[in-house]
Amino acid sequence: MSELVVVTVPLPDDVLDVLAAKFDLQVWRESSQIPEEVLKEWIAPARGLLCSVGTPVTRSVMESAPALKMISTISVGVDHIDVSHAAKRGIPVGYTPDILVDSTADMALALMLAVTRRVPEADQLIRNGGWQAGWSTGFFLGTDLSRATVGVIGLGPIGQAVARRLRGFGSRVLGWNRTPRKVEGVELVELDTLFLAADVVTVHTAATPETHHLVNAQRLASMQDGAILINTARGAIVDESALISELSSGRLRAGLDVFADEPLPQDSPLTHLKNVVLTPHLGSATAATRRAMVERALENLFTGMAGHPPPWGLEVSAQ
Ligand code: DGY
Repeated sequence: MSELVVVTVPLPDDVLDVLAAKFDLQVWRESSQIPEEVLKEWIAPARGLLCSVGTPVTRSVMESAPALKMISTISVGVDHIDVSHAAKRGIPVGYTPDILVDSTADMALALMLAVTRRVPEADQLIRNGGWQAGWSTGFFLGTDLSRATVGVIGLGPIGQAVARRLRGFGSRVLGWNRTPRKVEGVELVELDTLFLAADVVTVHTAATPETHHLVNAQRLASMQDGAILINTARGAIVDESALISELSSGRLRAGLDVFADEPLPQDSPLTHLKNVVLTPHLGSATAATRRAMVERALENLFTGMAGHPPPWGLEVSAQ
């Protein structure tokens, strides 16, 4: 009998074959999130867990799994895992840093351009038969990234990759990081100054208790009229209700890839607003990047299951 690994994220057959050659598997094959009761039942006898951002691995889930010895997540974000409880239990957590930096930075730029140049709205206009008049100087105007001051919140690898791209566009780049960090071409400023000064604010910090609602009502209210908020990090960093108020009044614009609740509920007021571009958590969603993330997660899983520290393991001290 091999050790049992629970897989909570749908994976291609060739990947499942590789896993099945080493472990007994219990695989969640639905596109919906695995319900907590099912996860708790499946994980009870398991030694390993392969998951991603849609699977909350809470303390109570881990308490249902007395023999669990490895958690591998196909993500760079680990806010869905109670990492301090895992550390207390001595369960290593493997994640997938670095390889999704460029794809996620591209997505942030894609949203900035989609909002500044109103791409989805323009596409809809044509499809709905609304392009009736000829070319005119005042038709469907947007704003330029080359003339914009862009504030980057979080100057880790993704924030830095966004700043590099923005320099190519000719934007002025302001930056803020919890521990001040020098980045070429980025003017470091206080967080509140960044909100006041930027035409575009883009969020690239991790979701932690300290960054919960970092983008709060007061900071949103301090943004200039017409300014844009881009979020490809985590929904929990932004006070979504406060953002919806600002967007509903038409004062701000936004490009959002992540939300407080995912999947975004169909009845979210966001879906009715023209001044926001929405994408369904696609930051790392290119074929090559997703493949690399899966490969890295498998390597983490195999190493951890063999009783060694995973090559891309989180360093969390047990408190
Ligand atoms: C991550 O890796 O944390 C992303 O949000 C999912 O691609």
